[in-house]
Amino acid sequence: MPDDTMPRGDVPQGEVPHGEVPTIRDAGSADRPAVPARGAWWRSAVIYQIYPRSFADANNDGMGDLPGIRGRLPYLAALGVDAVWLSPFFRSPQADAGYDVADYRDVDPLFGTLADFDTMLADAHALGLRVIVDLVPNHTSDAHEWFREALASPPGSPERRRYIFRDGRGPEGEEPPNNWQSVFGGPAWTRAPDGGRWGPSQWFLHLFDGRQPDLDWRQPEVRAEFEAVLRFWLDRGVDGFRVDVAHGLIKAEGLPDWDGQATMVGEDADADRADGINYGPMWDQDEVHAIYRDWRRVLDRYEGDRMMVAEAWVRPSERLMRYVRPDEMHQAFNFDFLLARWDGAAMRQVIDHSLRAADAVGAPASWVLSNHDTVRHTARYGLAVPGARPKGIDAASEQPDEALGLRRARAILFLTMALPGALYLYQGEELGLPEHTALPAAVRQDPAFRRTGGAEIGRDGCRVPLPWDADAPTLGFNQGAAPWLPQPDSFRRYAARQQEGVAESTLELHRALLGLRREHGLGAGRLRWISAPEASMLVLENGAIRAAVNLGREAAALPPGRELLRSDGRKAEPGWLPPDTGVWFRIT
Ligand code: NOJ
Repeated sequence: MPDDTMPRGDVPQGEVPHGEVPTIRDAGSADRPAVPARGAWWRSAVIYQIYPRSFADANNDGMGDLPGIRGRLPYLAALGVDAVWLSPFFRSPQADAGYDVADYRDVDPLFGTLADFDTMLADAHALGLRVIVDLVPNHTSDAHEWFREALASPPGSPERRRYIFRDGRGPEGEEPPNNWQSVFGGPAWTRAPDGGRWGPSQWFLHLFDGRQPDLDWRQPEVRAEFEAVLRFWLDRGVDGFRVDVAHGLIKAEGLPDWDGQATMVGEDADADRADGINYGPMWDQDEVHAIYRDWRRVLDRYEGDRMMVAEAWVRPSERLMRYVRPDEMHQAFNFDFLLARWDGAAMRQVIDHSLRAADAVGAPASWVLSNHDTVRHTARYGLAVPGARPKGIDAASEQPDEALGLRRARAILFLTMALPGALYLYQGEELGLPEHTALPAAVRQDPAFRRTGGAEIGRDGCRVPLPWDADAPTLGFNQGAAPWLPQPDSFRRYAARQQEGVAESTLELHRALLGLRREHGLGAGRLRWISAPEASMLVLENGAIRAAVNLGREAAALPPGRELLRSDGRKAEPGWLPPDTGVWFRIT
């Protein structure tokens, strides 16, 4: 028997303080409708993240590119996703793999040209795929024209005011202006290399790498520039933006000292609160929302349901949901779901909380388990503490149980694919791709690895070029040139071509569930939990589908009486679900 149904709360109003778990009360500003259209595509879309460096390399230089993406669009259309999100391909010195943009209106030659982008976009649209690009507004590259101008201009000049330059502390200004630490390790300030032409050199703020100076979003010129950048890509026809570090653009007035460690992620909500993680004066300041209201007005002037999704490591979810009020962004990545451990009760709690918080502002929930900043969940679910999130894995670290991790990743698919809202897949996830857990230090490129002197292993292991064909050089990533990161031998077992048409493969499992999700409109559906004897067994219904996943260590009895629609292929006693297994039934 069904035991409860997710509530659809009233649209609330008001402010939500940091660090509490309040009710949401503010659904948007006065001049906007309280509830957005329910039918917009992004509310229920499956969005596939392409990491361009590692997707497909058409010109055989070792680095993926836009023509490579274009060539594989039919594969993505056949997979059954609705949209792709491309991580940055803009002109950049690649100090942070493209999240250091030198020109927001051009394609880096590594990836092709603007014409390549236009052709790729046209092809995607012809195949029915929407395209979202990555906007990086918190910081530019130090190679950006503005930053060069800032270094060549005196303190206090309009050129410097675009960034956050400050005098240092101490008699000669030799101490950084405050104690903030960079997310990638080390101080968040670097002394301006201006030769001391104007007296003691100032310092500039960078929440990330020293080659990623933070912009000052209190400057009207900065705001105007980014609205123009939005229009540049909207005019070219993109369907939306993934907004990088959306919670970081405004820093508290006076830049007060803060003893916490600025980080992109917290491991879990309770520890976050205890440690003050992500509650610092650089994150989630109330004034940031005015920026997104301005952007929303820009997007709303365009035809075709253009959207924005916030990358904001903000807690609790009620605070995060302020980014997706009806007059702000459309969606925010649900990192609480990504961080949930392999535990039925914990997963269910996160799902309920996420749905309730999203519902309260009229936004869709989103579901994400992997991306280019996180050890792949195939690996995380294979650790001794399944679902833990180490900051990278190397040969000296605990090695995940690859088979167990894959089994669990396949099982959890039966849950995520059945959830209402938007679903994000990270490239390779459809193949069950493992993390590269043994990259040698010499090839690592993540600035966090360098800035922490190797203490933080970093994100390279989830960014390794994809295996397309087990029989081809570089597993079909290109024509044989050494990929920018080496592929592990294990990738051969996961190549797309060898999984195609194999009924029980992870690729075909994705295709089947994506097809059913679409056919049954699950993204736009509604979740209903069904009682199960064990808390480790999650059973839910959405429309005509009943999904069951066993996150426990023993086989568990299934609630009776439904027609089997799709299993993950593991043998089971009738009426029982083995551990680490999922299944879908049709409700007749
Ligand atoms: C979040 C991005 O996802 C990550 O890859 C990047 O390093 C930081 N933001 C800084 O832009």
